[in-house]
Amino acid sequence: MCGIVAYVGHREACPLILKGLKRLEYRGYDSAGVALLNGEGLKIYKKKGKVVDLENELQNKDLHATVGIGHTRWATHGEPNDVNAHPHYSNHKKLAIIHNGIIENYDSLKQALLKKGHEFRSQTDSEVLVHFIEDIQQETNCSLEEAVRLALQEVVGAYAIVLISEDDPTQLIAARKSSPLVIGVGENEFFFASDATPIIEYTKDVIYLDDNQVALVRQGELKIVNLENERQAPYIQKLELELEAIEKGGYDHFMLKEIFEQPRSIADSMRGRVNREEGTLQLGGLSDYMDKLAEAKRIIIVGCGTSWHAGLVAEYIFEELARIPVEVEYASEFRYRNPIINADDFVIAISQSGETADTLAAIQLAKSKGATIFGVCNVVGSSIARETHAGAYTHAGPEIGVASTKAFTAQVTVLTQMAIAIAHKRGSITEELYQQLLLDLSAIPQKVGQVLKAADRIKEIAYIFTYARNFIYLGRGLNFPVALEGALKLKEISYIHAEGYPAAEMKHGPIALIDEDMPVVFIATKDSSYEKIVSNIQEVKARKGRVIAIVTEGDELIPNMVDFVIEVPETHDILIPLLSSIPLQLLSYYVAVMRGRNVDQPRNLAKSVTVE
Ligand code: AGP
Ligand code: GLU
Repeated sequence: MCGIVAYVGHREACPLILKGLKRLEYRGYDSAGVALLNGEGLKIYKKKGKVVDLENELQNKDLHATVGIGHTRWATHGEPNDVNAHPHYSNHKKLAIIHNGIIENYDSLKQALLKKGHEFRSQTDSEVLVHFIEDIQQETNCSLEEAVRLALQEVVGAYAIVLISEDDPTQLIAARKSSPLVIGVGENEFFFASDATPIIEYTKDVIYLDDNQVALVRQGELKIVNLENERQAPYIQKLELELEAIEKGGYDHFMLKEIFEQPRSIADSMRGRVNREEGTLQLGGLSDYMDKLAEAKRIIIVGCGTSWHAGLVAEYIFEELARIPVEVEYASEFRYRNPIINADDFVIAISQSGETADTLAAIQLAKSKGATIFGVCNVVGSSIARETHAGAYTHAGPEIGVASTKAFTAQVTVLTQMAIAIAHKRGSITEELYQQLLLDLSAIPQKVGQVLKAADRIKEIAYIFTYARNFIYLGRGLNFPVALEGALKLKEISYIHAEGYPAAEMKHGPIALIDEDMPVVFIATKDSSYEKIVSNIQEVKARKGRVIAIVTEGDELIPNMVDFVIEVPETHDILIPLLSSIPLQLLSYYVAVMRGRNVDQPRNLAKSVTVE
């Protein structure tokens, strides 16, 4: 999500920064900008769109400067436009900031600054931070470095920031918490970037800034302190990677990168919402509609493809915890079949891109019948996000691979949080279960990290099945939508025909397909239907099917019955899809790679389907 590039030294800063921003384009963004400092002061140029649009804007301008900061923004607060693009000036335009992340408490800081007469030019949380820093500097008459430290002590949220100050053209100040920031150390020059990609052609000496560290470069000297002003010894590492290898962050494909990002993206979709210490869960977008939703007679969920699968997972969870009846509809069917929609229905529209034409049309139809529409979207400022009455962003970060992976788990995370919050409000779960679910949910990112460690083993299994012509995926309960999603993933990127079924449905037809050539993936984690699915596995084995089973760690029964097992850690039943879906993503990825497919851009598919 977003890219940061900054430079101070002896080279021309602007071309270097623009080139660096292009290297970070793979991260996805919606606008770009630079701030340059020379004899004429601190100048900001920014533009919605791509880095080339910014370059066009910069033509025929005097851009000479040897210090500057640049940014590609992936909007979280305020729509993607020229004004909200970074960098942002402080109130007196003495400072400029670039920021990656989210300042959770920006609103309270902003209200206090507004009372002091600050004027904000954008809707971003980032602009509030630079105003706040300038305000502290002026109020306490301290150095900029000190002001940054004091400000960050008050900040709740995630950030990688770089600041440039009109008062000192030899200086850049950077800091990070939860968002990445790398410093490149050259001969009398320093580079800052979100990853090493923009730096590597100039120097291989890098420092990965740690959380809560502030780095100050001044007159060619680098100093790192923590937020308590204790000096930190910089640890300079040698980059061993070559340029080609670190494009796409070192992964062969965006899809693989996105699969591996899930511990972070799932954590991001809970950030500022689940507070484990205080045992609370709050979804900002839901607060005004909480009463209405808690009273709703029915919830209708609409979406397409993977988003529809996330809806099916949500159906189980909402009904189980909140005891509200849920209907999940393909948006494309819903919109054309004169559905019964009442004004007291609550409609949840799920979409990664926020641009899917069928989902948008379903929303408009439901809206015209007076229903309340809640959006669960990944792309900020997208059409669906604007069209709905309220919503919650999934905060998975840009998803570039056409096959949805991290967006799916982020959708499920957000929907699970909604179900828990509503169930708590309705009193349909005990306080004890509520607290337990918050704890278990908070542990998911780390458990996903554990699942990802099985990647090499899954690769070996994929190798064995590379030449399969068909696959069947079977699961029960919450693992049924996981089976559907696993089959869709394989189909999309490997072009192998795959079907997902509820495991018990197999005997009503698909069992006829089972023979010694048929790979069958069972999602057979330990939950309430465990014993039943064990019987289904036996039915397949009796017909010589080749079984790959996703099981709970420590399972001693299934590994003895099947051909291959992949373990996932134990968790609460309703959270299992967040773990059991991950090995299936990896399986389809490796099969597709081994078949030589264009994994990130499979044939005939588009990332956002804006046609009916
Ligand atoms: C997912 O892997 C697919 N590419 C596709 O099914 C997708 O989920 C569907 O087109 C819906 O997209 P949306 O979430 O952006 O609305
Ligand atoms: N929250 C900031 C904004 O919306 C920064 C987003 C980013 O990381 O690009 O402007």
